[in-house]
Amino acid sequence: MKILVLNGSPHKDGNTTALVSAFQKGAQAAGHEVVVCPVGTMNIKGCLGCEYCHTKGEGTCIQKDDMQKVYPELNSADMVVFASSVHYFGFTGQMECTLSRFYAGMKPAKAAKYGLILSSGSPNVYAAIETQYKSVISLCGGEDAGIITCAGAENKTEAALAKAEEFGKSL
Ligand SMILES: Cc1cc2nc3c(=O)[nH]c(=O)nc-3n(C[C@H](O)[C@H](O)[C@H](O)COP(=O)(O)O)c2cc1C
Repeated sequence: MKILVLNGSPHKDGNTTALVSAFQKGAQAAGHEVVVCPVGTMNIKGCLGCEYCHTKGEGTCIQKDDMQKVYPELNSADMVVFASSVHYFGFTGQMECTLSRFYAGMKPAKAAKYGLILSSGSPNVYAAIETQYKSVISLCGGEDAGIITCAGAENKTEAALAKAEEFGKSL
């Protein structure tokens, strides 16, 4: 299947990216195609709430930024993985901007499966994100295929990367 990973970390070589790379390695070993969109470092603005998409735009957004590269990937993925560092108990601002832009299509992801990969400084800081993630995938009509979290000194360890790789392999 085609797996789209939205990496919301602002760090190109950070802790989330290390988990994403390990996940990608595992998923590719299992025969899947993996596309990573580094939305955390792309030019993606938050939704303006202008309603152009739901009036004149026929589901398209008036803002022509890097989200235009993400929409076709969302539309064609069989699985979507949200990967993010934890910022103040939530997704990164960059991931929030990306999620807000889902509004143009309402349910732009057609995937049946979803996943969540989170990196944080402390453990047990994931409740708000998990609630949001489950609501978003329910709206999109898909199912959770797994959640990987990694906290503090665990980040970038062999054990953490093995956990992410195994998640990819298990799909
Ligand atoms: C603005 C900001 C807010 C953060 N908020 C939290 C937080 O609420 N809880 C937590 O455990 N870690 C928090 N962290 C720590 C990061 O989640 C952690 O360092 C993570 O591993 C960074 O991943 P990255 O290298 O992919 O950016 C925060 C870091 C930053 C920069």
